[in-house]
Amino acid sequence: MTKIEWIVKSEDETKKVANKLGALLEAGDVIALEGDLGAGKTTFTKGIASSLGIRKTVNSPTFTIIKEYHGELPLYHLDVYRLEDSMEDLGFDDYFHGDGVTVIEWAHLIKDQLPAQILTIYIYHISESSRKLVFMPVGERYNQLCKELLDENISN
Ligand SMILES: Nc1ncnc2c1ncn2[C@@H]1O[C@H](COP(=O)(O)OP(=O)(O)OP(=O)(O)O)[C@@H](O)[C@H]1O
Ligand SMILES: [Mg+2]
Repeated sequence: MTKIEWIVKSEDETKKVANKLGALLEAGDVIALEGDLGAGKTTFTKGIASSLGIRKTVNSPTFTIIKEYHGELPLYHLDVYRLEDSMEDLGFDDYFHGDGVTVIEWAHLIKDQLPAQILTIYIYHISESSRKLVFMPVGERYNQLCKELLDENISN
């Protein structure tokens, strides 16, 4: 397993890392984002969105569990923080196997519904503007993706 870690020092750096990941994503990819309130999950999602050519502003879907955006690839932005029943089936599978990229904030809250292969990104608060990003790929596709990111030297 290729686990990758980066320290980013600003919101822009977080978005830059997300951009590089976004550029490698394909239909059917599922990204789980974990981290405390305000860690930067939505910020990271914005970075992915811009690299998918999405012009619309991506924001926290506070009362909406699922938002769809249309770019070169569709982006399905899920935030399951307010989902009351972790087994409630909102048709997640259709998104995971659909024709776009799915990004899930607080993914562990629906862990029993997640696909077996997934790229989980943990975002840890270090200081007001610094974060540690830890990429944990599960499955061949995401291990490969992480290798490509390493080869590209993501922080450049
Ligand atoms: N390096 C950084 N990366 C990401 N966000 C940062 C960074 N430094 C500061 N911030 C700030 O931290 C906040 C992150 O908010 P964001 O909405 O992305 O978090 P979140 O993890 O989605 O929170 P929530 O759990 O409420 O959905 C923003 O105000 C952003 O400007
Ligand atoms: Mg958020």
